[in-house]
Amino acid sequence: MALLKSSKLLCNVGNYYPCLSSFPVRASSWWSHVEMGPPDPILGVTEAFKRDSNPKKMNLGVGAYRDDNGKPYVLSCVRKAEAQIAAKKLDKEYLPIAGLAEFNKASVELALGPTNEVIKSGRFTTVQTISGTGSLRVGANFLARFYQASRDVYLPKPSWGNHTPIFRDAGMQLSGYRYYDPKTCGFDFAGAVEDLSKIPEKSIILFHACAHNPTGVDPKPEQWKELASVVKQRNLFPFFDMAYQGFASGDIDRDAWAVRYFIEQGLNVVLSQSYAKNMGLYGERVGAFTVVCGDADEAKRVESQLKILIRPMYSNPPLNGARIAATIMNTPELRQEWLQEVKGMANRIIGMREQLVSNLKKEGSSHNWQHIIDQIGMFCFTGLKPEQVERLTKESSIYMTKDGRISVAGVSSSNVAYLAHGIHQVTK
Ligand SMILES: Cc1ncc(COP(=O)(O)O)c(C=O)c1O
Repeated sequence: MALLKSSKLLCNVGNYYPCLSSFPVRASSWWSHVEMGPPDPILGVTEAFKRDSNPKKMNLGVGAYRDDNGKPYVLSCVRKAEAQIAAKKLDKEYLPIAGLAEFNKASVELALGPTNEVIKSGRFTTVQTISGTGSLRVGANFLARFYQASRDVYLPKPSWGNHTPIFRDAGMQLSGYRYYDPKTCGFDFAGAVEDLSKIPEKSIILFHACAHNPTGVDPKPEQWKELASVVKQRNLFPFFDMAYQGFASGDIDRDAWAVRYFIEQGLNVVLSQSYAKNMGLYGERVGAFTVVCGDADEAKRVESQLKILIRPMYSNPPLNGARIAATIMNTPELRQEWLQEVKGMANRIIGMREQLVSNLKKEGSSHNWQHIIDQIGMFCFTGLKPEQVERLTKESSIYMTKDGRISVAGVSSSNVAYLAHGIHQVTK
């Protein structure tokens, strides 16, 4: 810095610094100690995919829906809602800290069902958030500030990769409970129940409401009942992440069943919602965070604190996506169209799972691939080992994360046979 200052003085002729650029400014940087961080594992897959010149290449890493031509899909109800909003020539003023009121109301009704006792008695608060990630982060920060009983958050093993840093960066401690059984490629129900029965009382436990990411493995209703009973017995605190409502089974009510059941059992959950997948509003960043409270007065106090938490984070949420989602949910024809479109997306994925398995059989594979059909939602844990994934990428230009997870949304009628052939080659 001293060198830089004195040289400025020397060169400051006629109010400009002709020789500044030749000085070693980098040597005095504030950030020379900052180490290169590892690339995001999923974005890393996309980078490698982009570099590949094979015309048959497939990217099964990204968690975004694609139509049967492999193209990003904008829902027709979204286009219509956008047109309606544009025609109204609305202003672009700031939203309140808690977001768009009609969006929040529609969101909690979507999740809990409009006639839910929690809604009728007003013992909840819902705030608009920056999609599901922002919702989880607001939730994590709220718990860090106000949940007095524990710092420990138990995630399913494995869980969505971003859960750990979201809660860790908010100051919580992460642990796990058994969830996926590699032997069956299904739910380790006994393991989960055993683990939940042993973790300290009042710990926070995170559940994926449906379409578990990355495994595609969800508990069955009977198993959810058992889990709810353990949660109740052990006085655990349930945090639901619902990023795929409607996207799993095609039915918004069926996908919200576990959340509603827990509430019916008297469990006051918190809930994160995202409209990235079920409305295809990925980049619009539309989500919500709900806290179910003891009574309406408590809900008001909680909401006041959520606002105090949000204000210095991002002040208030974005307007456009919430307007789109609210218009869709609150306009009967658009809502109807949306429900059909969600079903269409879910069904295409379910269909691709079946086609992949039937093509594997056609290839002559003797393995049991039933788990591909049994799993649900955008992702499938194929059971492929890291070395098999590596070979698949090298030999067939098929890209996925090392854990063998594929985004079934990236499979289409034109490439499913190619995928089956590739998988058979590395597993026979
Ligand atoms: C389990 C889970 N939770 C939350 C999210 C949040 O996504 P977004 O922030 O795009 O809404 C995702 C997205 O992949 C997810 O899979």
